Amino acid sequence: LEETTTLNNGVNMPRLGLGVWKTDNTSAKESVKDAIVKGYHLIDTAKQYGNETGVGEGIKEGLAATGQNRNDLFITTKLFNGDQGYESTLNALEGTLKRLDLTYIDLYLMHWPVDGKYIDTWKAMEKLYRQGKVRAIGISNFDNERLQDLLDHTDIVPAVNQMEFNPINQEKDILEFNNHAGIQMEAWSPLGGGEALSNPQIKTIADKYKKSVAQVILRFDWQKGVITIPKSSHEERIIQNSDIFDFKLSDDDMKAIEAIDKEKRSLWYPDFTWHTTGEMQDTVDKWDDS
Ligand code: A2P
Repeated sequence: LEETTTLNNGVNMPRLGLGVWKTDNTSAKESVKDAIVKGYHLIDTAKQYGNETGVGEGIKEGLAATGQNRNDLFITTKLFNGDQGYESTLNALEGTLKRLDLTYIDLYLMHWPVDGKYIDTWKAMEKLYRQGKVRAIGISNFDNERLQDLLDHTDIVPAVNQMEFNPINQEKDILEFNNHAGIQMEAWSPLGGGEALSNPQIKTIADKYKKSVAQVILRFDWQKGVITIPKSSHEERIIQNSDIFDFKLSDDDMKAIEAIDKEKRSLWYPDFTWHTTGEMQDTVDKWDDS
């Protein structure tokens, strides 16, 4: 939990944190506070989750309870798809900082590559980075084709690419490409919803080490060098998910988990575009005013 990795711009990032997707403000506040008290330093949210306000409150309570300072934490949030474009990206950060009640973000990610917009969006994120409003900038859900396009047309190499990554969706080509480009891979939904957690082969491995399936999955990510942000609204699971440092998966067990890969994404193009339209956009616009 103390261990960090150094990103390509020299900033240190914790390798295990708490995610808060599908968590409302009230629950996010509790989870974030619990996690900070239990030793987590990395918290990952997004404007689109609608819980930045709750996360901000949880951060305050967690810091007060532990006597730590803001700079002991590493806060990630994400640019909403509907805010993509040069000027709107520059403006969007202000609302995010206001909702989180923070003066800076440690890692600001482009949530999805919106075709036709992600290059201009990235140029605005480069500007926010150069202005010192965010300590690092990165991307999320970029496949190799779009990433290559971004690298060809912009200056700053993303520090992180956050992808859906878990035993049934290991994104081997994207992981390899990111590793070569010096981009840190980070896993969203590391526990893979129900399917990975109920996988009988991982259960057999977990029993051998006397650990839970969730712990084996998170340890697998750790040994692959992939940063993880498991979400849980239960304190005992938040504790359990950070208890992965008293065992090491053997090479054979790593290979056995690698072989489980079904290249099965739960969310991908064009499904994500709903984030930018209709009701979702209206809801998110209101968060900017709150
Ligand atoms: P809950 O919040 O009720 O604990 P992911 O981060 O991969 O999206 O997975 C999150 C899901 O896995 C949530 O539904 C969460 O439920 C559940 N979860 C988190 N940690 C554990 C754990 N240690 N054991 C079982 N389920 C877990």
